[in-house]
Amino acid sequence: MTLSLAQLIEERQEEQYPLHRQYINPSLARVQGIIGFDKLWARGEGAYLWDVEGEQYLDLLSGYSVYNLGRGHPLVKEVMQEVITLDRPNLVKMDCPLMAGLLAEELVKRMPPGLDAVFFANSGADAVDTAVKFARSATKRPRMLFLDHAFHGLMLGTLSLNGGRQFRDGFEPLMPGFDRIAMNDLDTLERELSRGDVAALIVEPIQGKGVYIPEDDYLPEAQSLCRQHDTLLIADEVQAGMGRTGRFLSSEHWGLEPDIVTLSKSLGGGYVPVSATITRRAIHDKMFSSLDRCQVHSTTFGQNELAMAAGLATLHVLDEERLMERASTMGEKLIQGLAALQERHGMISDVRGKGLMIGIEFQPPQSLTLKAAWSAAEKAQKGLFAQLVVMALMSDHRILTQVGGPEVNIIKLLPPLIIGDEEVEAIVSAFGVVMAEATKVRGRVWGQSRKLIKAAMSR
Ligand SMILES: Cc1ncc(COP(=O)(O)O)c(C=O)c1O
Repeated sequence: MTLSLAQLIEERQEEQYPLHRQYINPSLARVQGIIGFDKLWARGEGAYLWDVEGEQYLDLLSGYSVYNLGRGHPLVKEVMQEVITLDRPNLVKMDCPLMAGLLAEELVKRMPPGLDAVFFANSGADAVDTAVKFARSATKRPRMLFLDHAFHGLMLGTLSLNGGRQFRDGFEPLMPGFDRIAMNDLDTLERELSRGDVAALIVEPIQGKGVYIPEDDYLPEAQSLCRQHDTLLIADEVQAGMGRTGRFLSSEHWGLEPDIVTLSKSLGGGYVPVSATITRRAIHDKMFSSLDRCQVHSTTFGQNELAMAAGLATLHVLDEERLMERASTMGEKLIQGLAALQERHGMISDVRGKGLMIGIEFQPPQSLTLKAAWSAAEKAQKGLFAQLVVMALMSDHRILTQVGGPEVNIIKLLPPLIIGDEEVEAIVSAFGVVMAEATKVRGRVWGQSRKLIKAAMSR
């Protein structure tokens, strides 16, 4: 019996989008067509992707931060192949697999003091759901607090912690007592905590949607208020963790000592879905509180050999290649380069970020003609200008970026942590050209707006 994947791909590559329209998500396939992202991808390596025509693209999406090491890192690839070659006894389930123990040990070494117990699952949402269960069982309290704009996943438990109307609409009622508060509003936080029924406050120290960064004293103050009221602090590091912001955890920028940390995305080295929820032994053991409750929380694929091996290899590469230091240095250069553009282009209102998690925010133009174009676009769909910039970067510069969230004029950059000066220069130069072009109402950037407005209207 033979099955050649290469042959199957060659024979059917052209059917990629039709298959999705027929069997998967036609709306998504259509949107990709409208914004010019409907490429036939042939290969990915490092910070780059190639389409079937052999054109090269710089990938600043990184699979939403899955590819912190870049695509196909040779060491991770080798380790993946080794796991398969070794015929490891995977998912025996009624055992305590070595590889999970080794990865747990490595993760604990990288945590703030006292976080020494690990639960492995498969996705970011799994990790956050686990964190909520840890918090509830440890405190015996029902409620959760989360921040405006928060994104912790889209399964029902994690959707209940989502700070955006667009994701929640159509699925309510969600978990009762899971309440949203504004970032930087310590008074409201204190008022809610003083009710004595909040199990945990969950934060992304740097938010994924919009790249919002709290004021300097907010997170430390929030942590100390949580401590005063016996509420746990969960740092959701699924996107900002794993070195992305120049530190292993983004919480380290504020010296936080959260009670629970979640990790996922690039922990699997870009090969295997995996997540980890790390907490204090005492909190962990309240959930698995007796021998007959030793499996009260579990997931079939948790601790699988491929995922654990990918995690071990990824942590090794992060250290060996000093990728956190690199994220810091390259991030600073990129932010400086983009901030210099802000001085020249009034439509850039803010450039913010830490390490290689960067947001670029836009504001309405000064010129009257451009203002009219902006208003028409915003009326059809909020955040449409940012989408136009994303499209221009893709079509004219072969750079993949994304709009930073629903209904915001923000672009988010999540480059692989391996980028160097060459990529930084290419990004800044492409942004410069696109922003200059965006000053011409009949130029290439605004030229796409009619198409988007029409699509938004026909929604
Ligand atoms: C901070 C954060 N938490 C949780 C999640 C959910 O992860 P997943 O999509 O793997 O469920 C995400 C996904 O983007 C995220 O950014």
